[in-house]
Amino acid sequence: MDFDKVVCDRTSIRKYKTTEISRAVLEQLVDAGRRAPSARAVEPWEFVVIQDSSSLLGLSEIAANGSFIKDAQAAIIVFCQKTKYYLEDGCAATENILLAAAAQGIGACWIAGDKKEYAEQVGEMFKASGLLLVSIISLGIADELKAQSKKRCLADVIHWESFKNRESSK
Ligand SMILES: Cc1cc2nc3c(=O)[nH]c(=O)nc-3n(C[C@H](O)[C@H](O)[C@H](O)COP(=O)(O)O)c2cc1C
Repeated sequence: MDFDKVVCDRTSIRKYKTTEISRAVLEQLVDAGRRAPSARAVEPWEFVVIQDSSSLLGLSEIAANGSFIKDAQAAIIVFCQKTKYYLEDGCAATENILLAAAAQGIGACWIAGDKKEYAEQVGEMFKASGLLLVSIISLGIADELKAQSKKRCLADVIHWESFKNRESSK
């Protein structure tokens, strides 16, 4: 799929059909994740791919705003070693996976990991000893029709050379 279309069409999908996602496709998504940039090229990430329905249910019960994971066909959990830039690196990998999923016509949603009180519990559940949870990505063919979520317009967010007459919010 054309890159601009992927970026413009990607949107968080939280309702999924029961159509399975093949291992080959899941591998491609992780492959996109591991190709993300990382500070000092450390590549601190590890990706746990979940297809087992009882694990998906367990995750949905732990992740406060991820009850829909139970209906997903798969999830990819992004863990990172505790490096200085683990969060930036893990987020870059997460976004690569979201875009790769959109390009494959697979619905996906980023579910918070880092900073969440359930982060350690997820680590224990998947034996991710010594790693930090960055994100959980639920995956499945969309069972909802969604246009891209409303975004701030380009003119509002772009600033050439510097801000012009920016009013402080303080
Ligand atoms: C760091 C981060 C954490 C998020 N956590 C959740 C979450 O726990 N549950 C959820 O349903 N969506 C979560 N989202 C998805 C956002 O709600 C979504 O990206 C936002 O509403 C914009 O919609 P869009 O993805 O369709 O553009 C998260 C997104 C990010 C970047």
